[in-house]
Amino acid sequence: MKEDQNILMINNQKGTFFAISVVFHKLKSDGIQTTFTKIIKNLYYKIIGVDFNMQELDHLTIKGENKNLGTICGSSAEHTVTHVLDTLVDFDESVLDGIFVDYGSGKGKLIIFAKNYGFKHCIGVEFAKELCEIATKNIKKLKIKDTHVIHSDAVDFAIPNDARVLYFLNPFHKSVFEQVLPKIIAQSKNLNRELYIVYRAPIYNEVFQNYPEIKHLKKDYFRGDLTEFYQINYK
Ligand SMILES: C[S@@+](CC[C@H](N)C(=O)[O-])C[C@H]1O[C@@H](n2cnc3c(N)ncnc32)[C@H](O)[C@@H]1O
Repeated sequence: MKEDQNILMINNQKGTFFAISVVFHKLKSDGIQTTFTKIIKNLYYKIIGVDFNMQELDHLTIKGENKNLGTICGSSAEHTVTHVLDTLVDFDESVLDGIFVDYGSGKGKLIIFAKNYGFKHCIGVEFAKELCEIATKNIKKLKIKDTHVIHSDAVDFAIPNDARVLYFLNPFHKSVFEQVLPKIIAQSKNLNRELYIVYRAPIYNEVFQNYPEIKHLKKDYFRGDLTEFYQINYK
């Protein structure tokens, strides 16, 4: 499991040298304007007390039995999230009228982003109590409406009737997916509309292939980031 966690993010490097090397890497990959905008935004977050920093799970209060099967709290680059949501909206613009669910929502960065992007309502599901509290604070500080976090293990979460998008940024091990996906399939039978699943930084695609109800739509590479798009309830 440790290895899987490292695939998503290597977060143990700290210090000035590391910080400088990150800035140089960003300047090279994102360009001056994007890097500058990011620095200003992070400074603003620091000033108003919004916290989107990475966080290990070791000392957090976790609900449920799946602590050792979860990845640490981190998030994708904004340009990647924008690209992923643009791709989703290209499939079906009506998803914006429904609920966006982030499984393993950490400090709420993605649900806040999705709400600002145009989704009607955003819900995060997170099993770490402290992360739920930080996310709720972040939502409040940024004055984001119709966005909230539910403190629950993903396996116990029931999808709401208006759900249109279920988003997974490599949140957990395949044994958790094996519990979550059959539940989603069963619950999706009550929904009137198609449900889209986004699997970012996917490493357990094979689990999705076990369910004929889940249709694979697209494998997408963007600036080195991989995303799989799926659909349930398709006509
Ligand atoms: C990579 S982070 C994703 C952060 C967030 N989706 C974002 O993009 O800003 C994965 C998160 O999943 C949470 N997590 C892992 N296993 C979980 C489970 N079984 N139920 C609920 N949350 C879980 C972790 O606590 C962590 O915050």
